[in-house]
Amino acid sequence: MSGAAVPPTLTVAQTDALADRMLDHCRERGVLPPAPQGLWQGYHRLRSRLYETVTIPDTHLTPLAARLLYGIAVARRPRRLAVLGCYAGNLLSWVAGPGFAPQACYPGIRAVGLDVDAAAVALAERNLRSAGYAPGAVAVCADAYAADDFTAQGPWDLVLIDVDEPGARKAGYHRVLERWAPHLAPGAVVVAHDVRHPAFADDLAGYAGHARGQGAVATTTLPVDVCGLEVSRWPGPSGSPA
Ligand SMILES: C[S@@+](CC[C@H](N)C(=O)[O-])C[C@H]1O[C@@H](n2cnc3c(N)ncnc32)[C@H](O)[C@@H]1O
Repeated sequence: MSGAAVPPTLTVAQTDALADRMLDHCRERGVLPPAPQGLWQGYHRLRSRLYETVTIPDTHLTPLAARLLYGIAVARRPRRLAVLGCYAGNLLSWVAGPGFAPQACYPGIRAVGLDVDAAAVALAERNLRSAGYAPGAVAVCADAYAADDFTAQGPWDLVLIDVDEPGARKAGYHRVLERWAPHLAPGAVVVAHDVRHPAFADDLAGYAGHARGQGAVATTTLPVDVCGLEVSRWPGPSGSPA
């Protein structure tokens, strides 16, 4: 037998509870408003719908990370959100779920997934439509570094960064944040995927400091899985009543 430790598998209820604790941590650290009780019912409904309707080829997102993306959006209620590097729309579907999916819990205005891979964008767009997302949620083929048409459609309440550029890989997050930070709404939240991934340790070691340099007033790292999420908040009132 191998001596390697196998991490315990969490039950659904345990994963919900752990996600609650992480959202609570975000509130304590000043990056998110409080999340309402009972939000995981909506998550589980959305999960069933996505499992039945979308095709996601090969991206890595654990159930805990999916809950956090969903929960961040429930707590922050972003009317306008952008996912930079959306690929087939996996992370986009979770973060846009609370405002744009059927049975949304608040009315979103615009959710845009950007990617330079035209085939992936076409699949992301098909996924949004087959899952019944509102027309304000779209996937478009565009370069997140040179997306003036889109940055100008803000101000953005939530931006999720997941670009993986040949050559720069995740080091490009710094540059993409510089591009989008001037277009953030008061109290905006920026989520960066992969900040804990060992493969990107060098690329992203300074990301949290860079976010503060670009205006974030609070930031925290969530160890949702091997990839991790950095959640950072810009100054101003956070969250909007729906
Ligand atoms: C790790 S994948 C993203 C996974 C995705 N967020 C998901 O939910 O599955 C990285 C993506 O960044 C995209 N990308 C690379 N450079 C880009 C750029 N300059 N602008 C937009 N997307 C870019 C790649 O085409 C690739 O699909």
